[in-house]
Amino acid sequence: METLTVQTQPIEGQKPGTSGLRKKTRVFMEPRFLENFIQSIFTGIGGVAGKTLVLGGDGRYFNDRAAQVILRMAAAQGAVRVIVGQNALLSTPAASNVIRKRKTDGGIIMSASHNPGGPDEDFGVKFNTPNGGPAPEEVTDRIFEATKVIECYDIAVTEDLDLSTVGEIKLGDMVVEVVDPVADYAELMESLFDFDAIAGLLKSGFRIRFDAMHAVTGPYARAILEDRLGAAAGSVINAVPSPDFGGGHPDPNPIWAKDLMREMFRAGAPDFGAASDGDGDRNMILGAGAYVTPSDSLAVLAANAHLAPGYARGLAGVARSMPTSGAVDRVAAARGLDCYETPTGWKFFGNLLDAGRVTLCGEESAGTGSDHVREKDGLWAVLLWLNILAVTGRSVSQMLADHWAEFGRNYYSRHDYEGVDKASAEALMNNLRSQFATLPGRSFAGKTVASADEFAYDDPVDGSHSAGQGIRIGFEGGGRAVFRLSGTGTVGATLRVYLEDVCEDPEAMNRDPQEALADIIAAADAIAGIRERTGRPEPDVRT
Ligand code: G1P
Ligand code: ZN
Repeated sequence: METLTVQTQPIEGQKPGTSGLRKKTRVFMEPRFLENFIQSIFTGIGGVAGKTLVLGGDGRYFNDRAAQVILRMAAAQGAVRVIVGQNALLSTPAASNVIRKRKTDGGIIMSASHNPGGPDEDFGVKFNTPNGGPAPEEVTDRIFEATKVIECYDIAVTEDLDLSTVGEIKLGDMVVEVVDPVADYAELMESLFDFDAIAGLLKSGFRIRFDAMHAVTGPYARAILEDRLGAAAGSVINAVPSPDFGGGHPDPNPIWAKDLMREMFRAGAPDFGAASDGDGDRNMILGAGAYVTPSDSLAVLAANAHLAPGYARGLAGVARSMPTSGAVDRVAAARGLDCYETPTGWKFFGNLLDAGRVTLCGEESAGTGSDHVREKDGLWAVLLWLNILAVTGRSVSQMLADHWAEFGRNYYSRHDYEGVDKASAEALMNNLRSQFATLPGRSFAGKTVASADEFAYDDPVDGSHSAGQGIRIGFEGGGRAVFRLSGTGTVGATLRVYLEDVCEDPEAMNRDPQEALADIIAAADAIAGIRERTGRPEPDVRT
């Protein structure tokens, strides 16, 4: 095998964000951009000589090309084996599972998650460590340092490999093992859930609809929900992954999964609806006429997970990202479980899961997962819901009503202002910071500020410190507004405003969240000057 050492120089802007490096696809396709970043990953992890890696992605535009480059670079640099999903496909949770199950040295996932795909949309690359989870900051910092001093990379000179057939191919001394992307994952799901109970529910006439949003979960959902569990053919829609996700935005929320929302809110709707994102780690849960917010979903799952065989022994503890609502905290308090609050991003759950301190964790951004892998897992959440519904015999809306009656309700909504001018967004955040000392005690839209600060996290397992993780304004009575700038956007800045209020009045459990939160929304705007500073009369997305 011929290898080449290519001279290069650092390229600006290769700092990994909340979840790896995300850029416009055309940026990734520029000469040496991908190569530089892959080389920096290899350097950041101490080289790949003698190592086994996993490789796969969500199938978006450039996924197939990038896979060939990564394989050539790994072969040239002495990796012994790369386990790659057939056609270079692996959902993020499935990749996490293979990394763990095969005891590898980590993996590279090609995905920009829920961001649209295509030549004019987004592409991304992230590295997961041998525990199967996203690289922690200490590793991504080393990768970033490497991007700033890179001088050359080694790459094999070969023809493209045929990744369409399961089996082994030699690339020089390196083995490329092409695996069925679904098999190991489906086996893991079967080990956690009562497939007979779920199959029984589906047989009894319980109708489901799963929208794979033209993304990677299609083949997984078909294989598990339709083929193994017996859901009616056609229950999984938009099941064929396409490089541009059918021209859509593969983010499972009420805005981007509109068709599913419409279906679930019409007369004669299916009993259960769900969707997942580009790379299969996010989920949206619906019932007939019911939308479950991700924060509520985490709380309901925490309260009922023991009904599924994989969690029958109970939970070690739970964790949520700081902006996620406190609904799960109520469950933890009632059940005597430890409850951790982490910064945004799945990588912060890794240590807690590895240390056995938590079993379940979740984020308000439609991410829920457990210690079965080290990523959030869309289909896993769907199966846990189905298992719980099969055991309790309740509908989704009954589950929610019962949950709120028992634990109280946290009204919750996230408002996103996308593609805002970066300098204005940063000025808004700095202006909030400058008010920390003076806000407490002042009232806005009838809400009195009780606290104002910026969240920082000390990891209880390894003691690492992460500062600047979101601005929190707490109101008397328990409501709050949180402000963050997105770390995954690729254009300008995205301002996320997280709004929450608590409700314990049994007569007020069924209000529209935007209405229930009206005062908090008005207070947040009055304090931060959102409309004025962003020039936006209203958010682009409300979830
Ligand atoms: C967003 C979500 C965050 C999630 C991440 C990756 O990050 O808010 O919860 O972990 O995507 O899916 P953000 O753009 O807010 O930095
Ligand atoms: Zn994702």
